[in-house]
Amino acid sequence: MDYKQYIANKIKIENVGAEEIMSAIALPPNSDMGDYALPCFKFAKILRKSPVAIAEELKNNFATDDVISEVSAVNGYLNFKVNKSGLADSVLNRILNEGDSYGSSREGAGKTICIDYSSVNIAKPFHIGHLSTTVIGGALYKIYKFLGYNVVGINHLGDYGTQFGKLISAYKRWGDREEVQKGGIHAINDLYVRFNTEADEKMESEAREYFRLIESGDKEANELFEWFKELTLEYVNQIYKKLNITFDSYAGERFYTDKMQPIIDELKAKNLLKESEGAQIVDLEPYGMSPCLILRSDGASLYATRDLAAAVYRKNTYDFYKCLYVVAYQQNLHFKQVFKVLELMGKEWAKDLVHVAYGMVSLEDGAMSTRKGKVVWLEDVINKCIEKASAIINEKNPDLVNKEETANLVGIGAVIFGALYNNKIKDIVFSYDKVLSFEGETSVYVQYTCARANSVLSKREGGYKIPQNYSPNAQESEVIKALAAFPATVEDAAEKYEPSCVARYAVDLAQKFNKFYIECKILTAEGDAADFRLCLTKATLVTLKNALTLLGIGVPEKM
Ligand code: ARG
Repeated sequence: MDYKQYIANKIKIENVGAEEIMSAIALPPNSDMGDYALPCFKFAKILRKSPVAIAEELKNNFATDDVISEVSAVNGYLNFKVNKSGLADSVLNRILNEGDSYGSSREGAGKTICIDYSSVNIAKPFHIGHLSTTVIGGALYKIYKFLGYNVVGINHLGDYGTQFGKLISAYKRWGDREEVQKGGIHAINDLYVRFNTEADEKMESEAREYFRLIESGDKEANELFEWFKELTLEYVNQIYKKLNITFDSYAGERFYTDKMQPIIDELKAKNLLKESEGAQIVDLEPYGMSPCLILRSDGASLYATRDLAAAVYRKNTYDFYKCLYVVAYQQNLHFKQVFKVLELMGKEWAKDLVHVAYGMVSLEDGAMSTRKGKVVWLEDVINKCIEKASAIINEKNPDLVNKEETANLVGIGAVIFGALYNNKIKDIVFSYDKVLSFEGETSVYVQYTCARANSVLSKREGGYKIPQNYSPNAQESEVIKALAAFPATVEDAAEKYEPSCVARYAVDLAQKFNKFYIECKILTAEGDAADFRLCLTKATLVTLKNALTLLGIGVPEKM
C-alpha cells in the first residue's frame, strides 16, 4: 500500500493536483506526531488563507477509515496516523501468502528490456574492473524479471580486433597445445603479455597478417580464434555460475561483421558521413562532442560502428522497450556519440537507449598477490573472500554443519554486495574486512539476520497464525512499515537502474528486525504477542530472502 498516494487521493485542494499533494507529504521527524504529515504552507498563497486555517479545514473534510485512523491539524500541518493493526494484518497476510513472489508485479508485462552487461573481452583477463558491470547488470536482470518484463541478457563479447592476430602469432611461436588447453585463459594471457613485451616490427606485421587471415575466413586462423574463445567462455562461465549470472545471448562484436555495411550505407544516404583525414566520421560538433569515428582510413570498422549495428540489430530482433548498457563511466562519451548518431539517423527509439554508468572499483589492499602483474583477477577476489569467510565461520561457529557451503554463500555474497551497496556511480574501494564484517552494512549481516530468524522459527513446533486486531508496539510497527515498503523499493530500483536501493533496503529491514529481536521476547511472549511476533519473524525472513535473491545472493539456513 502506498500511503502517500492513498492520502493524496483523499484530499482535494483547489487548483492543486493529487501528484503535487503527494510529493508534499512527508515523514514527521517523530512518529508520535503521526506517520505522515502534509505541511500546508505552500498552499497559503494559492488559497489566500493561513496555513493554520487550511490545515483545519482539510482536517474537517477528511474522513478517517480503516487505513488512516487519525487526522489532526497542528500549527499548519495536517498529521495522519496509519491504522497500525490494519496495516500489520494486511502486510503480514500478503507476505505469508505470496512468499517468494512478494514484491513482484506484472508492471512490465508485454515489454522487453535488453541489458548489455559484463561484456567480457575474449582472451583477456576477467578482472576486478568487470565486477560492477557483472553484478549490477545481473541484479537489474533479476529485478526486471521480478516486475514481469521480458528480459534479454546480452554479453557483448569483445571478440574483434588485432589482438587476436597477436595472440595467434604468439601461440605459433611459443605455444603448446596441451599447455594452453590445460592452462586456459591464464596460459592465453601469458602468451599475449609475452607478445607485447617481446614483439618487434617483424612480429607486429606477422600479427596483422594473422588478423587479416581471421577476417578473410582462413580455416586455421579461425579455428585457433574459436579455440581461444571457447577457453575464455569456459572460464568466465564458471565465475558467472558462482555469481548466479545468466545470459540469453553471447552475440559479441564479431557477430556484427556483416551487419555494419548497411549502417554505413544508411549514414551515406542520409548525408551524415564525412571524410576527415582519410577517415569516415559523423560530425557531432554542433552537439558539443568530438566526431564519431565510423571507418578508419584503412577502411577498418571501429568499436562505435559495431555498437551502431548492434543497436539496430537489437531493435529489429527484440523490439525492446528499453536497451540498457551497463558500462563504466569512462565510456560516457562513446555512448553519447552512438546514441546521438542513431538519433540523427532518425531512429526514434534512440531515446530508449540508456547508458547505465558506474564508478571504478579498486582494492584497498593494493599489495594483493596476483598471478599476473598488476591485474587483479576477479576469480582471486572471489576465492579470497570465500577463504576469509571460511576462517570467520571456523572461529565463530566451529560445529556448524555445511561449513563449506555456508562459506561459499557468505564469501560470494560479500563480493556481490560489496560492489552493489553504494550508489553505482561512486568509485569504490573494495575492502575484504569491510565486506565481511558481521556488524556493518553487509550481506553477511543480512544473512546472519536470516539465520537468526530461521533459528527462532525452528524452535516453535506446530503452526502460528496472524492474530486478529493485534495492536503492534513501536518496534513491531517499525518492522511492519519496512516490510510494507519492499514492493515500492523494487520499483524504485528498476526506475533508477539502481540495485543499491534493494541492498540498502535489506540492511535497513535487518536493522529494524534486530532492534525488535533484542527488545521484544518472541517465543516466550504472552497471549497473541508470540503468534504475532513469529509471523513478523517469518515475514522478515521471506522479504530479506527475496531482496538478496534479486541481487544474486543466497541465504544459508544456519550460520
Ligand atoms: N568489452 C567492452 C569493454 O570491456 C565493453 C562492451 C560494452 N558494451 C557495448 N555494447 N559497447 O570495455
